[in-house]
Amino acid sequence: MSTLKNDRLLRALRREPLDRTPVWIMRQAGRYLPEYRATRERAGGFIELMRNPEMCCEVTLQPIDRFDLDAGILFSDILTIPDAMGLGLYFETGEGPCFKRSVRSEADIDALHIPDPEQDLGYVMDAVRTIVRELGGRVPLIGFSGSPWTLATYMVEGGSTREFARVKTMAFAEPELMHRLLGILADAVTAYLAAQIRAGAAAVQVFDTWGGSLGHAAYREFSLAYMQRIVQGLRALGHTEPVILFTKGGGQWIEAIAATGCEGVGLDWTTDLGHARRQTGGRVALQGNMDPSMLRAPPARVRQEVAAILDSFGEGSGHVFNLGHGITPDINPENVRVLVESVRELSPAYHRR
Ligand code: CP3
Repeated sequence: MSTLKNDRLLRALRREPLDRTPVWIMRQAGRYLPEYRATRERAGGFIELMRNPEMCCEVTLQPIDRFDLDAGILFSDILTIPDAMGLGLYFETGEGPCFKRSVRSEADIDALHIPDPEQDLGYVMDAVRTIVRELGGRVPLIGFSGSPWTLATYMVEGGSTREFARVKTMAFAEPELMHRLLGILADAVTAYLAAQIRAGAAAVQVFDTWGGSLGHAAYREFSLAYMQRIVQGLRALGHTEPVILFTKGGGQWIEAIAATGCEGVGLDWTTDLGHARRQTGGRVALQGNMDPSMLRAPPARVRQEVAAILDSFGEGSGHVFNLGHGITPDINPENVRVLVESVRELSPAYHRR
């Protein structure tokens, strides 16, 4: 960590004093960037790109080179784990991710291959090592995984869903089956994140994209409990790198999320940062939370929103500026520049003691 030239992300996650608020953007490497689309074209598709460590490195660095962000995020996907378990990931244009085989029964769970991160997901670890080498300490690299519940959603449904019918049927009608699947996934995610940290990731984020589809008690039972197991599992392995938990739509559960022992809680735009900060009493750092759609507004409006978000968090360390969810492909990269420059210009005022 001491070799990092810019360690603002890590300092913010540990609530240590710094000169300004760090900023990175969920899905910062992606289709809104023409240089990303060009590399994907050369790779022959998204899956081919994701399996090529040199090209993963190239697209991970693209937004950092363009906007001088305070962190890189590994270019990969949350669905690498189910793919390595034997489900056969593919992408259908217009339909998003799909699996050749889904998980519906006890026999399906028994048939899952337990992935060894270096053997079965070696291309991801090679990508981490390549990116960290090429970054040369410029900024930290964030590793990531999907949450067990979010991965289970794709595995049981066999792809994207709006209704969550199959996955909730398993959770509510056959809870012991669902708990078995989630336990297997929590162990796989823990091993996967530990391997990313060993390969050089300085922090990790768990994307719980679909935790917000659950009710109050069900969220704790089927999503949060397993994210807590991951945080504790990493600590038991001796890893002290910061963990960020991001539950989309999890604004009502911030205190419970903060109690898992994570360092950072990601928030979407439906939550007020100041309120969240008071609720968690400075025990965790908060990450977020601009509505990604705000990037469709004129630059002056984007800047005004950056100012409002910085002000809602208030003075002191413990805020990582980000969107409240991933950036969408239609965004003009110039508005991302406005966002980043606004954070750089406006945030020092909140860090003078
Ligand atoms: O943040 C980053 O820049 C790192 C890369 C990253 C990708 N996926 C690359 C990607 C990350 C962090 C993810 C996580 C991910 N993948 C999530 C959770 C994040 C969230 O926003 O909540 C989920 C739910 C997935 C599953 C997935 N993969 C979906 C729904 C899609 C989109 C399908 C589509 O066609 O719109 C993907 C594909 C994907 N993953 C793309 C990228 C850049 C687009 C693929 C392409 O280039 O064609």
